[in-house]
Amino acid sequence: MRYSIDRRFLEAGPDVFRHRVGKETVYVKKRRNRKNPLGWLAQAVIHGLTGNPLTTPPPGPGRNSAVFEADRLEWLAGRGVDVPRVLHRSDSYFVMSDAGPGLDALVSRKPEKAKRLLPKAIGALKRLHNLGVAHGGAQIRNFTWLNGRVHLIDFEDDIPDNAFAAFQLRDIFLLAFSLERLGTDPNIADICRIYDSGDGETLERLCAALSGLSLARLLDNALLSSLGMRDIRGFIRLVDKAKHLKGGEAWP
Ligand SMILES: Nc1ncnc2c1ncn2[C@@H]1O[C@H](COP(=O)(O)OP(=O)(O)O)[C@@H](O)[C@H]1O
Ligand SMILES: [Mg+2]
Repeated sequence: MRYSIDRRFLEAGPDVFRHRVGKETVYVKKRRNRKNPLGWLAQAVIHGLTGNPLTTPPPGPGRNSAVFEADRLEWLAGRGVDVPRVLHRSDSYFVMSDAGPGLDALVSRKPEKAKRLLPKAIGALKRLHNLGVAHGGAQIRNFTWLNGRVHLIDFEDDIPDNAFAAFQLRDIFLLAFSLERLGTDPNIADICRIYDSGDGETLERLCAALSGLSLARLLDNALLSSLGMRDIRGFIRLVDKAKHLKGGEAWP
């Protein structure tokens, strides 16, 4: 029971927190419910109207998010995916090893290094998808860097098998979108090329899905903000990039 956490810390801590066990840094993640129910509802409505795979609302936590995520991490680790090790688990929380700093932090602190690591992050996502598992929240902050390898964290979304293809595309979109929000001007053609190892239809699928959302340009920024889609400008930039690519224009 070396890694079981005292109730005092569990009650005082937020949903996810860093903790010291002796000299070791670990992360504790508590069982939780859906994070933003109103935002989720808004996205479900938009998805109902558009049917676009990129607007698929996140499925949210499995029945017990702590049990679900600990199970998933153990399953993935058993298949060679770089994820945190589960050190202790119970019905109400689990403890995992430190998977290192998030790549989002590297983007601002060491942009050149972050750029070099992006292909590794895309490779990690691809390996996950090759196992038939979509992430559900593949923003750059959920990729970390430890011991020379990109790791994936935050696996609480319980994605139904029959929705894999939509969530696979949505994962790639979320990765690109999160980079756009950080102001790194990501090249979606490159991202898709690396993902497909040069041979595949991901760029075509992503561009088609993004172009299908150009109507978002007509919606009022304030309205979308109230719906929880904060950086609509970043989103529109991605839609525009997709349009340029479709029209065969040179990459900026
Ligand atoms: N195993 C881990 N190693 C390193 N950092 C972690 C780990 N687990 C969580 N974190 C940090 O805590 C943050 C929130 O945890 P995460 O599991 O992503 O939950 P959320 O669903 O709130 O995004 C992460 O963005 C990361 O900074
Ligand atoms: Mg996260």
